Amino acid sequence: MKSRQLGPLTTSTLGLGCMGMSHGYSPDGNESGAMATLARAVELGVTLFDTAEVYGPYTNEVLVGKGLKAYRDKVMIATKFGFKVDPTKTSGGAIAGTDGRPENVIAVAEASLKRLGTDVIDLYYQHRVDPNVPIEETVGAMADLVRQGKVRAIGLSEASAATIRRAHAVHPIAALQSEYSLWTRDPEENGVLDTCRELGIGFVPFSPLGRGMLTGALKNLNGLAADDFRRSLPRFQQENFEANLELVTLLEGMARDKGVEPGQLALAWVLAQGDFIVPIPGTTKIANLEKNVAAADITLSADELARLGDLLSPAKVAGARYPEQMTKMANR
Ligand SMILES: NC(=O)c1ccc[n+]([C@@H]2O[C@H](COP(=O)([O-])OP(=O)(O)OC[C@H]3O[C@@H](n4cnc5c(N)ncnc54)[C@H](OP(=O)(O)O)[C@@H]3O)[C@@H](O)[C@H]2O)c1
Repeated sequence: MKSRQLGPLTTSTLGLGCMGMSHGYSPDGNESGAMATLARAVELGVTLFDTAEVYGPYTNEVLVGKGLKAYRDKVMIATKFGFKVDPTKTSGGAIAGTDGRPENVIAVAEASLKRLGTDVIDLYYQHRVDPNVPIEETVGAMADLVRQGKVRAIGLSEASAATIRRAHAVHPIAALQSEYSLWTRDPEENGVLDTCRELGIGFVPFSPLGRGMLTGALKNLNGLAADDFRRSLPRFQQENFEANLELVTLLEGMARDKGVEPGQLALAWVLAQGDFIVPIPGTTKIANLEKNVAAADITLSADELARLGDLLSPAKVAGARYPEQMTKMANR
């Protein structure tokens, strides 16, 4: 696979989002399946793996560390701190606010290193900006970890353009991770993509497959378990879901004409938005991983890009990407 830059880090064009192996979308608890998917990703040339303290909580880092142990020198592990974690709950319920205090930055890094079974975190992100702690203090502690050799590079997730600038003035930010896909264009509209391009910061789109919706694999909500995180999202409420499904049908038509899968079109569109962009589609399955990785080789003409962009333009998508409380946590 070709490589791209996230600031100073050289990575495969696409990474692998590991959250779904233990968190969010009713994980099946199939550890050996997850291990096999991680190993296949390495075989296919994927070098960026994404996890977080809160996924599980805690268990996803252990799984990812175990699955990548044999390949540690070939891959980069990105993890995240920044939520107050409720260990008695799972999935979105484990998020009990934000904690960007320097002592938490340090404590979580130490704990993540142990759970991952490694001596360095390649990319350490703040998961959400804490409105009660100046970003300079949080990033100052992250920079201390870089100086100590415990972290190679630092990133932010869902930070605003203004916060990115303040953070970057304290220590170079390698990557900014936010939701970005055919049906979520916020980073185009709020200046985040432009800021990253200008400052030489890599941009890592999360949920680039629209949490599975853009693959066409999700035809009704019945298949989602009662605790599936998507059930809490406005776009996955019955009426909105049905309206969005119609847009996906159009995407499926375009994919058929081109002889590819709808999810591959969605990924190729994201990849075409800039060479500083490294999406991290999430999957638990080898067959889906192989399709997603193959999307890195799809070329779209200017006309195809424009048609795709129009197919799922923001005005056509029904429902917000997050419920109100989670929206408030983003883009601070
Ligand atoms: N920074 C943040 O706040 C934040 C938030 C959310 C996610 N993330 C990160 O971003 C990563 C990716 O986002 P995501 O997992 O939310 O959403 P996503 O990548 O848009 O979609 C993942 C969903 O799509 C399905 N899928 C993947 N490839 C498929 C294919 N080729 N055909 C059919 N279905 C397919 C997966 O199911 P299967 O497992 O069945 O393939 C899963 O349900 C996460 O794993 C996590 O690391 C970060």
